[in-house]
Amino acid sequence: MSATVLPTASHATPRNERSPAGATKAYRGVAMEGVIARWYARTRGTASQRQDWRRQAEELVVGLPPQADVLEVAPGPGYFAVEIARTGRARVTAVDISRTFVEIVGENARAAGVSVAVRQGDAAHLPFEDASFDLVVSQAAFKNFAQPQQAVDEFYRVLRPGGCARIQDMSHDAPDAAIREEVAGMGLGRFRAFLTRRTLHALRRRAYTSRQFEQFARTSPFQGCEVRTSGIGLEVRLVKPRGSSTTSSNDSLSAH
Ligand SMILES: C[S@@+](CC[C@H](N)C(=O)[O-])C[C@H]1O[C@@H](n2cnc3c(N)ncnc32)[C@H](O)[C@@H]1O
Repeated sequence: MSATVLPTASHATPRNERSPAGATKAYRGVAMEGVIARWYARTRGTASQRQDWRRQAEELVVGLPPQADVLEVAPGPGYFAVEIARTGRARVTAVDISRTFVEIVGENARAAGVSVAVRQGDAAHLPFEDASFDLVVSQAAFKNFAQPQQAVDEFYRVLRPGGCARIQDMSHDAPDAAIREEVAGMGLGRFRAFLTRRTLHALRRRAYTSRQFEQFARTSPFQGCEVRTSGIGLEVRLVKPRGSSTTSSNDSLSAH
């Protein structure tokens, strides 16, 4: 099997933030391209993290229809997408704003011998038809999106009725003690532990609270969500009701 890299989405056009050069951009923070993306892929590719993704993927596919269509938004290096594909229970598609990550997802899928259709695109303007997926997942990325409300609206649009979106990310409400505990569990030396704590404190500033997620959900056609918190993170579950008509994100925005 091979990874399919689909043509670049025409509407991956960066939107509402301004880069130093004055161009708008679709992400918050630095562009995860080139050496930054390759470095990130190495830090996320340890055996223990991959094992964790494998366990999560096996849990995720339980209850999905046979050969379900799963979309991972902002997969970074794509380790989770690869593990979902490895279960053999779903057709997996991945979309990331970073051209380098699109390449890396392809490389990782090929190395694992699984099929992941991957393309470049913006979470706020997903390059897919309405009602294309049974499940949308996104991990450790939502706080990076420049247009979070539009991303939630887009998750709704591309889901089939009865489908579910699961967003996992750091919580803005994560207590300092939870950050200390998380880093202690990583088994790092003192200096790396210090740097990692600092990074997590910086990421927490950008992350959203449970209440903000509830607000995004209420404002979207999902109209509500379930939020579970654990340690430094949270998981948001959004369900598109069976029998609901698919509303395009533009229609849904104009309806509010
Ligand atoms: C911190 S990385 C997380 C990657 C991966 N999900 C993980 O758990 O390692 C954030 C990801 O979000 C992607 N990203 C940021 N803004 C995006 C957007 N507007 N649309 C799609 N992907 C975006 C980045 O390119 C990067 O892959």
